[in-house]
Amino acid sequence: MLSLKKSIDFSIDQVEARCGHVPECGGCCLQQMDYSSQLDFKEEWVQKLFSPFIESHHTEVRPILGCENPWRYRNKMEFSFSQNRAGDHFLGLMLAGGRGKVLNLSECMLVSKWYIETLSSARDWWKESGLSAYHHRTDSGHLRTLTLREAKQGKGKMAMLTVSGNPSFALKKEQIQKFVACIKKTTPDEHLSIFLQVHQIAKGRPTQFFEMHLHGPDHITERLEVELEGQTHTLDFKISPTSFFQPNTVQAQKVYSEGLQMLSLCGARLFDLYCGGATIGLAAAKSAKEVMGIELNHHSVFDAKWNQEVNGIQNFTIHRGDVGEVLTDLNVASPDIVVVDPPRVGLGEIALQHVKNLGAKEILYISCSPITQAENIQVLIEAGYRLKILQPVDQFPHTAHVENICLLQKG
Ligand SMILES: C[S@@+](CC[C@H](N)C(=O)[O-])C[C@H]1O[C@@H](n2cnc3c(N)ncnc32)[C@H](O)[C@@H]1O
Repeated sequence: MLSLKKSIDFSIDQVEARCGHVPECGGCCLQQMDYSSQLDFKEEWVQKLFSPFIESHHTEVRPILGCENPWRYRNKMEFSFSQNRAGDHFLGLMLAGGRGKVLNLSECMLVSKWYIETLSSARDWWKESGLSAYHHRTDSGHLRTLTLREAKQGKGKMAMLTVSGNPSFALKKEQIQKFVACIKKTTPDEHLSIFLQVHQIAKGRPTQFFEMHLHGPDHITERLEVELEGQTHTLDFKISPTSFFQPNTVQAQKVYSEGLQMLSLCGARLFDLYCGGATIGLAAAKSAKEVMGIELNHHSVFDAKWNQEVNGIQNFTIHRGDVGEVLTDLNVASPDIVVVDPPRVGLGEIALQHVKNLGAKEILYISCSPITQAENIQVLIEAGYRLKILQPVDQFPHTAHVENICLLQKG
């Protein structure tokens, strides 16, 4: 099966791009396709991917859920620093097919104007700082990426500068202070958080990241409204600088509401695997009897605990670690429901074996990579599950990505 990107037919319903960087920017490869055609295209692609199961399992194939406003929807974006041989400064997104070359972004229709203003200010700071862009092959240079985050329904903005961990390229105190001042200039927001992240690589050892809190609160908060059994639940979530949060806040609400409403939650025991800040698990806990989350990132685990407390939820516990390893070590009774929302690579091999052997009545599989999702689901189907519902959600308008929800039932 071809990836979504490779399946694009660029002759479909062409419209004028809203952003002047199309088509050279690698961010939006679908912006010249009319939005309703983008939705048809993504829906058909997902259906084709799952077609080997749909007919024999009598799967309910639901129409894709699009965005009411498909512009400026992202709550996070990572920008790269790069320099050419002449030493010109580039800070922005990767060029489409540009083999690591970076485009100096002066506009972007996926994020609010604050991102572009901050980017421009950071570029000015960089030019004056005497610092250089990090170079992978030689492990030289200072600056790697600038990550910006902005709560859409909650509170706060965040900037994190990621720098090389090579001691020969450590930043000086004054350079860091000037960076903080430059971000503050474009962000007169009392809820502005600024971090420095050191990205340390060493031969034969795992890459390590260290964060230094430079200014403001140590997190932002996002608010989600999740529909469950005819009721709207409002939940607040803490987001630390390295914690995952769904990049499209409005569509995340749809993913969670649609997915959880497919389940027989009332009185159930549920595992929320790859739970992040426990957005799914804590919403599910409003109706389920008890929920257990597993998450690798310790910042996300701290966030999940804060989220549990602030939302007044008692029937939730969390374990930190790799899903496969934690399930191997834990001696717990099988749950009624398993929810999985893994990274793009899909379920780890041991995790997949456990999910299969847990024998839950229902498995809700949420993924931003339907290809690995379909591969994992094939294994679960061979173990006796049936694909009951297929629900794509467009979390990423104008890009070659789509979120997909699958409900599997035993027998
Ligand atoms: C796609 S995110 C989903 C998070 C959450 N369900 C949500 O909707 O916000 C995947 C999460 O899996 C975590 N993760 C990645 N590999 C993991 C592993 N091997 N074991 C446990 N968690 C892992 C990541 O840190 C991330 O929080």
